[in-house]
Amino acid sequence: MALQAASLLPSAISICKEGKSNASFKETSPFGVSVSHLKAEFNPHPVKSKKFKRKLSVKPMVAQIATATPETNQAAPETKKTLRKGNVIITGASSGLGLATAKVLVETEKWHVIMACRNFLKAERAAKSAGIAKDNYTIMHLDLASLDSVRQFVDSVRLSGRPLDVLVCNAAVYLPTAKEPTFTAEGFELSVGTNHLGHFLLSRLLLDELKKSDYPFKRVIIVGSITGNTNTLAGNVPPKANLGDLRGLAGGLNGINGSPMIDGGDFDGAKAYKDSKVCNMLTMQEFHRRYHEETGITFASLYPGCIATTGLFREHIPLFRLLFPPFQKYITKGYVSEEEAGKRLAQVVSDPSLTKSGVYWSWNKNSASFENQLSQEASNPEKARKVWEISEKLVGLA
Ligand SMILES: NC(=O)c1ccc[n+]([C@@H]2O[C@H](COP(=O)([O-])OP(=O)(O)OC[C@H]3O[C@@H](n4cnc5c(N)ncnc54)[C@H](OP(=O)(O)O)[C@@H]3O)[C@@H](O)[C@H]2O)c1
Repeated sequence: MALQAASLLPSAISICKEGKSNASFKETSPFGVSVSHLKAEFNPHPVKSKKFKRKLSVKPMVAQIATATPETNQAAPETKKTLRKGNVIITGASSGLGLATAKVLVETEKWHVIMACRNFLKAERAAKSAGIAKDNYTIMHLDLASLDSVRQFVDSVRLSGRPLDVLVCNAAVYLPTAKEPTFTAEGFELSVGTNHLGHFLLSRLLLDELKKSDYPFKRVIIVGSITGNTNTLAGNVPPKANLGDLRGLAGGLNGINGSPMIDGGDFDGAKAYKDSKVCNMLTMQEFHRRYHEETGITFASLYPGCIATTGLFREHIPLFRLLFPPFQKYITKGYVSEEEAGKRLAQVVSDPSLTKSGVYWSWNKNSASFENQLSQEASNPEKARKVWEISEKLVGLA
């Protein structure tokens, strides 16, 4: 059965190498549920030697400097005082990680959260049920699957007169069971169009607002995922992320003139999600290279852990949704509650010590943050530059 996949894990760990596919991962349960989906979001650590793992567990904070991440500038200690609350935009704050993060931040009484959501009523209800007091949040409409909506949202942020200090690109769709691609308003395949292109335009347009901030720190955080990193066990489960030579992206991902997939291949909803997460992590690093020194903005990504209960898995079959949380809790032990994941993302938003830019954060078993290593593809500067340049054209910035 699906849970039998766990028995494969130890041997898989020992033979799993970055960039090399392993046929034993390609399992499908009798339920017709690919085990890849069950194993997809756990174990934040890249597949490494025992020595490397030991190092991670004994150094709780900033324990590892990722060799593959770009050079970083250590900003001066953040000593400037401020009287006002920080303002943070969180996309997709109507559920899961985004909502949990909003709750943690407002409870500190130091943050006002702008919940950037496509469903106003759902967001309002979610804020209420999470017990977020009215004065501490503002809901603003944002549909990342429409570039017009992104532009309107940015206009509304500017018109609001509220300074912007931190942007969290959190929203995402995951369509693992889709047989055919669906598309954004502009005709991009929905997963990459929403998760990457919508956020790409949003963050580019809001950069000027962030530059103006007088808050002690300004940050752009783009939520990544272990599933996009092929230097991990989870990232090695087919279909693996692979942007190829970007021919599909360059062709507009519309499935008419070319492929809806970034690498130009046949549509695969699970792969499209993983590819979009690679784009998220590459975009964060390209932002860092282009803007950190000039603006002082900290750019970061993270893997919050496997939050098996969120709406991210809503498109999966009911049996998967039933088995996935206990599988992650008791078999892989990679499960993280929404509350814990919210604390992690809130830490990347607000911890004054996490000033380092160009970093992909993860957490160890003791919930201590460390700087994790990205896969070869997710840290390839040339690919990051190309994804940036093609994305600029697709969203109308170049
Ligand atoms: N769950 C995990 O195990 C896990 C692991 C690693 C990384 N992540 C990442 O964590 C982030 C949050 O995911 P989650 O697990 O919290 O899932 P979730 O509960 O489904 O949250 C996703 C959010 O994105 C919003 N969204 C989707 N399409 C949108 C659009 N077109 N415009 C605006 N908002 C849109 C959803 O809005 P609606 O409420 O209107 O649908 C929802 O609020 C994602 O970036 C995901 O990749 C999750």
